[in-house]
Amino acid sequence: MKHIINSQLICANYNKDYPMIERGEGVYLFDKAGNKYIDVSGCTAAVTHIGHGNEEISKVLYEQSKKLAVHPTHLFYNEELENYLANLCEFAPEGFNHAWTISGGTEAVENAIKIAYQYQKSKGHQRSKVLARWGSYHGNSITVLDVGGLKARRDYYTDLMVGHHHISPCFSYRKEAGMTEEEYEDVLIKEFKTTIEENPEIFCFLAEPIVGAALGAAGPTKNYFKRIKEICKEHDILLIADEVMTGFGRTGANFGINHYGDHADILCCAKGISSGYFPLGAIIIHDRVFDVIKESGHPFYSGQTYSCIPLAAAVGNANLEYIKTHNLVENARLVGNYLKKRLESLKEIECVGDVRGEGLFLGIEFVKDQKSKAIFEPSYLFNKKVEAKAFEEGLVTYACRGTVNLSEGDHMLFAPPLTLTKDEADLIFEGMQNAIKKTYSEFLKG
Ligand SMILES: Cc1ncc(COP(=O)(O)O)c(C=O)c1O
Repeated sequence: MKHIINSQLICANYNKDYPMIERGEGVYLFDKAGNKYIDVSGCTAAVTHIGHGNEEISKVLYEQSKKLAVHPTHLFYNEELENYLANLCEFAPEGFNHAWTISGGTEAVENAIKIAYQYQKSKGHQRSKVLARWGSYHGNSITVLDVGGLKARRDYYTDLMVGHHHISPCFSYRKEAGMTEEEYEDVLIKEFKTTIEENPEIFCFLAEPIVGAALGAAGPTKNYFKRIKEICKEHDILLIADEVMTGFGRTGANFGINHYGDHADILCCAKGISSGYFPLGAIIIHDRVFDVIKESGHPFYSGQTYSCIPLAAAVGNANLEYIKTHNLVENARLVGNYLKKRLESLKEIECVGDVRGEGLFLGIEFVKDQKSKAIFEPSYLFNKKVEAKAFEEGLVTYACRGTVNLSEGDHMLFAPPLTLTKDEADLIFEGMQNAIKKTYSEFLKG
């Protein structure tokens, strides 16, 4: 049963009918007509770490909202936050001992930029520009769109932007043919270094450890972040890791940066931080950042209505406890490796160009031809066709675009709940195999 979006909603798509969703349970979603789907995307992307319909979390949400949801922050502090931040910092890499909560990922990135800026000002540096990478998404406010590198979302608003700096993404699947990984990394590091040297106004570098929606779970080359961090240190530039998608066990480690040597000064968190049970985001900062700001004697110049409220803290804490007690980080690693291997076997179909990612943060890139990596004509919407076929197979997937020229090339991001079992991974594999085979054979028929 389809439902045409009614006229009260400010539509993201005026022409689309949607089935009405009704409920979720574990990795499953159910629509009003009774159809059952596996949430392979993790709610468009990488949100539902602990799965849907979790009673433990809903009880905490209920009990805490009954007790106290918000309070006058100018006169009180709350124990829920105090406990939560202690647990949050313990879950983070060593040295990340201070945190701040807000309502989501965009705000986390915005606040990370603000705190990096304040760090620089506290040291007497007048610097005003962020360096980030093309082919990255960091959120949807004007500043964060400006900093981000997802053309499809940012281009409409360029008049409103101040023009932060961007460099190439680290995306070895599409490196120049014949180049080794090492040579490719050298080229990227050189670009980074030159950009920093030519633009002394840069005060921080922002990057997703593994790029999510924009590039489909594309991880860095072996020493990329280590070398970036060395240059950052030389110039006293802070490295901000956008862990909005990669945090809280998604990649089979607590945070994405754990895979690459923990080279960051500030972590931005959201999505899996609360698995969607309450709007929550956070920044977690290293002592070396906090100490400079504290020493300046100035408070953190930020704060919004829903910063650091007890209801968000209680839900965040319960979600983190659930992740820990159910070993979901380890499960993401094990079941993620299993699913990745199964998806890799889909390369027997010519249009599956690459399968990548870590843990339960995986991507498939589609190509017309594996050898040349030629893309499908953008107007053919190959990714959307696979998504529609997967939907018929009972899989909710996330079709994305932009691995070539920042706006073309078809890929898909997989980020199911971290509770996924191997049997459920098999169902994802089988559904994807059918969907891709059908879509490709229709393409070949023309
Ligand atoms: C890597 C990354 N950073 C930031 C954001 C923005 O988060 P939010 O949508 O919660 O504002 C997203 C959202 O998809 C994201 O994927």
